[in-house]
Amino acid sequence: MPQLNGKVAIVTGGAQGIGRHYARGLAGEGARIAIGDVVDCAPAVQEIAEKHGANSCLGLKLDVSDEASVRSFVAQVAEQFGRIDILVNNAALCAALRPVPTAELDVELWDRVMAVNARGPFLMAKHVVPHMKAQGYGKIINISTGMAMRGVPGMLHYATSKGAVLSITRCLSREVGQWGICVNTIAPGLTVSETVMAQQPEFMEMVRIPTNKSRSIQRDERPEDLVGTVIYLASPASDFVTGQTILVDGGSLNN
Ligand SMILES: NC(=O)c1ccc[n+]([C@@H]2O[C@H](COP(=O)([O-])OP(=O)(O)OC[C@H]3O[C@@H](n4cnc5c(N)ncnc54)[C@H](O)[C@@H]3O)[C@@H](O)[C@H]2O)c1
Repeated sequence: MPQLNGKVAIVTGGAQGIGRHYARGLAGEGARIAIGDVVDCAPAVQEIAEKHGANSCLGLKLDVSDEASVRSFVAQVAEQFGRIDILVNNAALCAALRPVPTAELDVELWDRVMAVNARGPFLMAKHVVPHMKAQGYGKIINISTGMAMRGVPGMLHYATSKGAVLSITRCLSREVGQWGICVNTIAPGLTVSETVMAQQPEFMEMVRIPTNKSRSIQRDERPEDLVGTVIYLASPASDFVTGQTILVDGGSLNN
């Protein structure tokens, strides 16, 4: 029996990479999906619509760093689907980033990473929470990374932006619990997403084996490894779980 029948889920950055797997997994549990991304959402939407019906998925252009874009996206989702139950804050500058020594880190790049990876989840929550409050129920799932806890040389911009995501979860969960809204973080380990593999082949070649050796389960982390935790945090099974960070990394870091 699907766990998310009748629910509506937003997946930011769901057109490709790991987010596309989240969208596919949530649709498989019966949720209607709204994908927002800066890149073309059509292939991801078509895949879900072919499997679950024409009204099962909506894809719209969205820049999570831009409040006007977020406001318009959320309004269109609410209008088309009538409700918003689940928000997966997955969009980020991730695959496009390579390690840069801090002394060479450009301020414009720093600001852009903060705008997408930290301001983005804040803006999405700002505009989605009123819908969840009105329903008296909601699930916000923020995507951080183990890097925010471990620290990795050359990744100050990315790791710091994802550290902000941990704080967004902690603050927001305390603010919105009274309306039955749960806010949690998933912190994936290094994941062989299609986008990272395509955009950072040399970096991945360098870090893959040592990362796998750091794990209790010593293999690559695949996007599929993350989908079950997203479904759990989106479902009623986690209705009393909030403010938490779940590391899904094969046992590399201990919480
Ligand atoms: N791949 C990994 O090793 C790894 C590890 C830990 C955490 N993560 C996190 O998982 C998530 C997905 O990672 P991924 O590997 O698929 O990387 P990715 O860079 O391909 O995914 C990000 C998605 O967000 C979209 N996006 C970028 N800027 C946007 C914006 N301004 N507005 C809307 N959408 C935007 C991209 O088009 C893409 O679809 C990210 O939050 C990332 O930080 C990834």
